[in-house]
Amino acid sequence: MNFKTVAFERSFGISSQLTESTLPEIAFAGRSNVGKSSLLNKLFNRKGLAKVSSTPGKTATINFFSTDDARFVDLPGYGYARVSKTEHERWAELIEGYFNQERNFALVCSLIDIRHPASALDENMVRFLQDAQLPYLIVLTKGDKLSQQKCNQQRSALRKQLSIDDDTPMVITSSLKGSGIDNLRREIARFVEN
Ligand code: GTP
Ligand code: MG
Repeated sequence: MNFKTVAFERSFGISSQLTESTLPEIAFAGRSNVGKSSLLNKLFNRKGLAKVSSTPGKTATINFFSTDDARFVDLPGYGYARVSKTEHERWAELIEGYFNQERNFALVCSLIDIRHPASALDENMVRFLQDAQLPYLIVLTKGDKLSQQKCNQQRSALRKQLSIDDDTPMVITSSLKGSGIDNLRREIARFVEN
């Protein structure tokens, strides 16, 4: 697995348009503003690869980014209240449509903000991944916002809240400081090469 070359492939606004899954896919899911796009940029050290914004709801399409051996999938964030009902339904259609397809799911990275307990929607997401037996791990984002000790406490609390077994990695990252990124790269590589 190499994190050196990556290219934007395509955006999709409706799941029926999604192109065939020809490569192992690593998807990034999580509530709006949790830091999915920032994390993708950090993984590849490419600032403008995925668009980042302090306003939630920035990524409103499914975006594919590909490397030689894998495809990275930036999903629209869930749970942003300030969008219209139709927009909200379109996002739900996209996310559910993606997961309901026959695809080469190598790994789903479920992102959760380390500062807070998981929301009901985060719980649903993780339960879905567990029930569907999809390969997944948890990324606890914005680790720079808490002390190391607090981060570890939060990780244990979230493991309990979400009933995550000990074999499932929970990686603490900071896209701002770069911490945990190498660890996440190693985990991704492990799942893809498996
Ligand atoms: P949507 O596209 O709306 O679903 O959001 P997203 O999950 O892609 O979040 P995005 O990467 O756009 O980041 C949202 C905000 O959080 C931006 O202001 C980022 O700068 C900030 N952010 C992301 N990661 C981190 C982090 O590790 N630490 C800190 N302090 N801020 C972060
Ligand atoms: Mg985004």
